[in-house]
Amino acid sequence: MSFEREKELVGRRAAQLVEDGQVIGVGSGTTVSYFIKYLGQRCRNEGLKILAVPSSYQSYFELIKSGVTLTTLDEYNILDLTIDGADEADEDLNLIKGGGGALTQEKIIATYTKNLIILIDSSKLVKKIGGFPVPVEVLPKAFSPVYKKIELLGGKPEVRMAKRKLGPVITDNGNFILDCKFEELNDPETLNMKIKMLPGVVETGLFIGLADKILVGKGETVIEKIKQRARPDLNR
Ligand code: A5P
Repeated sequence: MSFEREKELVGRRAAQLVEDGQVIGVGSGTTVSYFIKYLGQRCRNEGLKILAVPSSYQSYFELIKSGVTLTTLDEYNILDLTIDGADEADEDLNLIKGGGGALTQEKIIATYTKNLIILIDSSKLVKKIGGFPVPVEVLPKAFSPVYKKIELLGGKPEVRMAKRKLGPVITDNGNFILDCKFEELNDPETLNMKIKMLPGVVETGLFIGLADKILVGKGETVIEKIKQRARPDLNR
């Protein structure tokens, strides 16, 4: 069974979870692409009426192509549901995201939502997150001092380089990305706060305590990982 097939299975399952009238956040990545495809089918075939807030140019264009109506967080400050992928997830539902560079807008829709469901294939469920380097989005002007500060925090940062352009990757927000490998992520929550506090850092790919549920593709089945927790009151 291929990981690609598992991505498709969770994408299709997630599309079934969307309810008529909902305003949803849509993450980015190849797994989310399947979700968008099946969501579009439901809109066309069942007349499902929903509104979606994309998290990247990728999901923006794919949603339009799929015939899903778009909206913004200016019109709807709190989303009913957000669906996204991840690069790594543990049993506590802590995540590393940002392999596709869309971490900042993804964290926004992951935060201002009543429910965050993450879709992964079985290769991404790990005992402890940290095998995947932590992406950090940085304002270009602050890149050198932030690089040094992350080294002092024990990380080995690398500027993410573009593939078909000279120089660094430029995010949808016009910034650079530092991919930061840490020897061990023993306290990802504290590390996240320390990195976030560095002036010039826009966002980190550490998503701690945000996910409500993870759908893991496993062969021909989908396994659910749920965390019982009180989600912070979005109105306070
Ligand atoms: C985008 O920046 C990421 O956070 C993606 O959600 C994550 O990399 C998962 O992508 P794939 O589904 O393509 O593996």
